[in-house]
Amino acid sequence: MNLFEVYPLYDVTPVKAKGSSVWDDKNQEYLDLYGGHGVISVGHSHPKYIEKITSQLHNIGFYSNAVQNPLQQQLAKKLGEVSNCEDYNLFLCNSGAEANENALKVASFVTGKSKVIAFENSFHGRTSASVSVTDNKKIQAEINKFNPVTILPLNDLFLVEKSLEKGDVCSVIIEGIQGVGGLDEGSTEFFKGLEKLCWKYEALLILDEIQSGYGRSGAFFAFQHHQIKPDMITVAKGMGNGYPMAGVLIHESIKASFGMLGTTFGGNHLACVAGLAVLEIIEEEGLIANVKEVSEYFIAQAKTIGAVKNIKGKGLMIGLEFEDEVGDLRKKLIYEEHIFTGGAMNKNLLRILPPLNISTKEIDVFITALKKIL
Ligand SMILES: Cc1ncc(COP(=O)(O)O)c(C=O)c1O
Repeated sequence: MNLFEVYPLYDVTPVKAKGSSVWDDKNQEYLDLYGGHGVISVGHSHPKYIEKITSQLHNIGFYSNAVQNPLQQQLAKKLGEVSNCEDYNLFLCNSGAEANENALKVASFVTGKSKVIAFENSFHGRTSASVSVTDNKKIQAEINKFNPVTILPLNDLFLVEKSLEKGDVCSVIIEGIQGVGGLDEGSTEFFKGLEKLCWKYEALLILDEIQSGYGRSGAFFAFQHHQIKPDMITVAKGMGNGYPMAGVLIHESIKASFGMLGTTFGGNHLACVAGLAVLEIIEEEGLIANVKEVSEYFIAQAKTIGAVKNIKGKGLMIGLEFEDEVGDLRKKLIYEEHIFTGGAMNKNLLRILPPLNISTKEIDVFITALKKIL
């Protein structure tokens, strides 16, 4: 059997990783400024992460959601504390798309309505409802076009209200900072306005923090830069540092009922300990403070590069925008300088999503390499 080839691949075969470094099968070291699509939060192969997952595996790796699993409660408690979101309840699932799928479903269950407002250049995943609220027609099949969705420009509260006024909207979904689209974000006024309008028209506000969450923006969640309180928050990527897991934080004012949501794998024992290890490391190693410090340094250095026309994003979710497309630049960074970076739908933008414990020294390596290539 061959693979169903849906990914264009770089010719690199990582076999080992540690901190912000990855080694290929020829023992070439790479600097990882992308964390495999923003997944690596506490660094590759962190000793605490390895220890917790390994020892859990020696006890029990999986049982279903039909029995008690106290690790789930421990994870929910810890996430509430570390994120300062103690007035939410947690539903655990397996991927970002699934988290959004469930959040949208809850919004529709609770309000009895079906229309969703999403924003231009949004990316919320590739499953049914998630892809329907993603602003990319190329990845939507006919079957995904049944969900009623209105896509609006960011930062236009007037158009949001015009759409909400019709009374058929169950939720507004927005990324804390847009990831795949290219690091655009709503203003504080916009986020605050969305919160008010959702309340006024009985729609639920879903903050997709799948890429921008878990400390990446310099706050635990990017929406916390805007002092709002969403009805639901979706998380994945950095949550498990590579262990596939995701969650929906659902405000306690929204009541659960048996059977409303469900999954076989979500919240399994290994996922829970991976998630707990990530939160403990973020806390014990002061990673959010590190994000702020390294971010300031990175941005100051990037500003010295003339070819960088615009710097977008917050914390260690940074977009460097150039006059031209960055495809060749990314190839040179990988093959000549051995540095992983990311792209975006905005073809002129280099997306930087390193582990949250990266050092300024490692940023220097990147800046020197970038200057050399340019
Ligand atoms: C903001 C955002 N939402 C949702 C997703 C989908 O997550 P997954 O690929 O885990 O389904 C992504 C993935 O890139 C994302 O960046």
